[in-house]
Amino acid sequence: MPRTHSIHGAWANRWIFILAATGSAVGLGNIWKFPYIAGENGGGAFVLVYLVCILLVGIPIMMSEVLIGRRGRQSPINSMRETAYEAGHHGRWAGVGWMGALAGFFIFSFYSVVAGWVLYYIAGMGVGQFVDLGSEQAGQIFNGLLADAETLLIWHTLFVVIVMMVIAGGVNKGLERATRVLMPLLFVLLFVLLAYSMNSGHFAEGWDFLFHFDPSELSWNAVLIALGHAFFTLSLGMGSIMAYGSYMGKGDSIGGTVLTIAALDTLVALVAGLAIFPIVFANQLDPGAGPGLMFITLPVAFSQMAGGQVFGFLFFLMVGFAAWTSAISLMEPGAAWLVETLGMSRVRASVLLGVVVWALGVLALSSFNITADLTLFGMTAFDFLDFITANVMLPLGGLLIALFAGWYLTREMTEDELSLRSALIYHAWRVVIRYVSPAAVAVIFALNLYQKLAG
Ligand code: PHE
Repeated sequence: MPRTHSIHGAWANRWIFILAATGSAVGLGNIWKFPYIAGENGGGAFVLVYLVCILLVGIPIMMSEVLIGRRGRQSPINSMRETAYEAGHHGRWAGVGWMGALAGFFIFSFYSVVAGWVLYYIAGMGVGQFVDLGSEQAGQIFNGLLADAETLLIWHTLFVVIVMMVIAGGVNKGLERATRVLMPLLFVLLFVLLAYSMNSGHFAEGWDFLFHFDPSELSWNAVLIALGHAFFTLSLGMGSIMAYGSYMGKGDSIGGTVLTIAALDTLVALVAGLAIFPIVFANQLDPGAGPGLMFITLPVAFSQMAGGQVFGFLFFLMVGFAAWTSAISLMEPGAAWLVETLGMSRVRASVLLGVVVWALGVLALSSFNITADLTLFGMTAFDFLDFITANVMLPLGGLLIALFAGWYLTREMTEDELSLRSALIYHAWRVVIRYVSPAAVAVIFALNLYQKLAG
């Protein structure tokens, strides 16, 4: 008999689950990463591929993760093992959970560095450091920050500590409540920025850059990055959503919930892009500027608009909260496993995990200054951690989860757990999860490998 409850607790209702999962999904991936990788990969065609990946790969796999988590009612590692047993298969499927936990560490380490930049900008906006800024000065401030290892270390450490605090308390009411207020506020502020950029006189250029379809700009590498980002932005392939699913009520519908989460996540990313690119063009900045894009363009915009100091402060605050709620979900799979398997307290589990990700994060942040010359496959530690997780571990984890849900779990299990309204929709999900999603990931992997070997 499948369990009815997780030992870690349960969400109060379906909306809380939606909120928590959206909190996990909406983060730096949407506001910081999406615009800059869209910029680096030429915009339009990249965005389209990304949207297709969300639809055909992301949504079906998110449904699978939620159903496995809710069926297993434990940490992803143990839920994979339990559901495999229930379906009469080998417990080695727990390995997918292990790889996910490792990916969570790796992502956390560079995520926390970027979140540290956000905290620095919150403080800077708060004390009025960013008034009357030209794009050149904004660039200098950002690059100055990257060169300053000590400052980076302080903010990175602070971010790890606030995440540990929430993990230690369990995913508690405080966080649920905070998310309830902050997520809507984030939307409001994004729309304020959007309104500003619509008036910047370069909105059409920004729109065109994001939605103009020119397939000649697309490489297989860009397709891989779009696929990887679909996983990253929806928090898939490493167990975060599976862990959150294990706290979900049995009667709640998975299909509609997942669609809502994916739609909100996509909306935030597109609005962030539409807010940022017009500002890029209005200030003759380079859309392919890389990780600094948001940190250079937005302060310029805020310093020019009326009340910009206040909006800017609030905006970076919201980004900080978005990063916070995502980082919590990166740590939750590992924490849940330590508690249920080793009997650790939440506090001990969070300290242990915190120390590990903090140390990895130090390596990532030093790659902008002290260890900038240290490279692995031509990438700095920061770039490597980002690449290996988003473009390799998450798609691979997602591929295995799709195969597991589609081919290894019994039809009864998935049908019962999803309890979709119509047989037709269930059938469609099953075809997509068995054939379409795995094939898409496999083909994109294979073509990239081929290109790298051939080129
Ligand atoms: N989805 C988060 C974002 O877009 C990042 C994340 C990835 C969180 C994987 C959890 C797991 O910022």
